[in-house]
Amino acid sequence: MDTTLKISKIKDGTVIDHIPSGKALKVLAILGIDNSNSISIGIHVMSGKLKFKDVIKIENKYLEKLELDKIALIAHEATISIIKNYEIIEKFTLDMPDKFKGIVKCANQNCITNSGEPIKSEFKTVSVEPLTIKCIYCRKEMEGEEIINNI
Ligand code: CTP
Ligand code: ZN
Repeated sequence: MDTTLKISKIKDGTVIDHIPSGKALKVLAILGIDNSNSISIGIHVMSGKLKFKDVIKIENKYLEKLELDKIALIAHEATISIIKNYEIIEKFTLDMPDKFKGIVKCANQNCITNSGEPIKSEFKTVSVEPLTIKCIYCRKEMEGEEIINNI
């Protein structure tokens, strides 16, 4: 008897694979998916011997640059596959953008971007592993959960 649980292949849509184990729900949350797409999620599934990953499959949805940049902030290790009629027509890893504009709220309450002025937040990528970004206005550095909680 085959006791392994497999997530079905999809006909059309996007597969976000190799998400670090435990981060799939955060990725879904920032993508702001509503009830109009069928989604399959694998959490803590086997990825080769002794390794685990999360996987998200979203039917009939293709991600935009802004959405890919948000995923890069949470799971830059992820692999994106674009599926059309069951075939992978494109597969790529995420590039870490060197700046993020209007995506992350600065954690410094006194930052000008939190003052009510119409100034969009903007961060520069300081390091990728671990991910550290720096506000171009107040120079506040943010990493890890602090970034994720402010997307
Ligand atoms: N996939 C899917 N539906 C399809 C085709 C592929 O859901 N019609 C999924 C696969 O299940 C996998 C991902 O897309 O999660 C990438 O597919 P593929 O490159 O065939 O898998 P692997 O070779 O295992 O990829 P990797 O080497 O990146 O682990
Ligand atoms: Zn700031």
